[in-house]
Amino acid sequence: MQEKKPQHLTLNRFLVQRQLKHPEATGELTAVMDQIGKVGKIISNYMRRAALEGLTGLTGAVNVQGEKVKKLDEIGNSVFVEAFEYVDMVGAIVSEEMDRPLVISSANRKKKYVVLVDPIDGSSNLDVDCVVGSIFSIRNLKGSVEESILRKGTDQVAAGYLMYGTSTLLVYSAGDGVHIFVLDGQIGEFVLEHENIRMPERGKIVSSNFGNYRKWAQPAREFADSLASEREEYALRYSGALVADLHQILHLGGIYFYPEDAKRPEGKLRLLYECAPLAMIAEQAGGAATTGRARVMDIHPEKVHQRVPYAIGSRYEIRRYEEFYRK
Ligand code: F6P
Repeated sequence: MQEKKPQHLTLNRFLVQRQLKHPEATGELTAVMDQIGKVGKIISNYMRRAALEGLTGLTGAVNVQGEKVKKLDEIGNSVFVEAFEYVDMVGAIVSEEMDRPLVISSANRKKKYVVLVDPIDGSSNLDVDCVVGSIFSIRNLKGSVEESILRKGTDQVAAGYLMYGTSTLLVYSAGDGVHIFVLDGQIGEFVLEHENIRMPERGKIVSSNFGNYRKWAQPAREFADSLASEREEYALRYSGALVADLHQILHLGGIYFYPEDAKRPEGKLRLLYECAPLAMIAEQAGGAATTGRARVMDIHPEKVHQRVPYAIGSRYEIRRYEEFYRK
């Protein structure tokens, strides 16, 4: 059951309301989330102008993941970095586009958070004007920057994504449900669309790159085969941007999976700034996320750019996926 949508509840008003419910809150998380909203507006603006202003295409550089960097990847990264350089309480930023965490030093000794981001998720969609997103995770700065980053997903303070599609959305959770905001271009604000959205317990969507089917690990192939033989039909949807596929599953239920395969035995997706933040969203909405063998939120990362096999979605489909890995 969705809660009734209030009128004109902007992101900032919503955050302040939530903050007032927690007397111990200091307003610092609200300030970080407010910057994420600003990032969303700026990147959304770039996306809308990209084709007109020659911002599509490659920069010529290759990132730490060995992927060719696109102009908009680089722009997205600078927009995030710039945003947190203005927020005193963020001590470091980790990004898909940066080899190492960027430590932000300032006179303020009360740095409280580290922010981890995938500035542009689904970048192969950029040059064809299809949907892309940004993913973020906010963690407490406890001990050194490295110690704060290499922690389980259950240690995230807040997480979420921005989606640049037919409209620009901001979806987040700070551990008390998942809330969706839509950017109202006329007033330049994110406005609440859904408070406490719940993912269906069982769904209709299957989202995966079936072009890799032959390379997939055996359990993933058997899972896919089992879906094809179901009496209940599933609909196949795969956009090339995890954020967009997950967003659909958030509404309709089902499963997205990117398993380990012959070429990538460790999987493709990055644990810290893709898989763990979206796992928090799924769990907070009543869904789940797994590697097939382990709950994603329980994985203790060993390195910043670690990859993991991944499946995320409704509880029923995730349970079934795990059954094939247990066999
Ligand atoms: O790197 C992340 C990502 O772009 C996801 O957003 C997306 O689901 C996946 O990779 C697409 O990968 P492929 O093109 O191999 O299917």
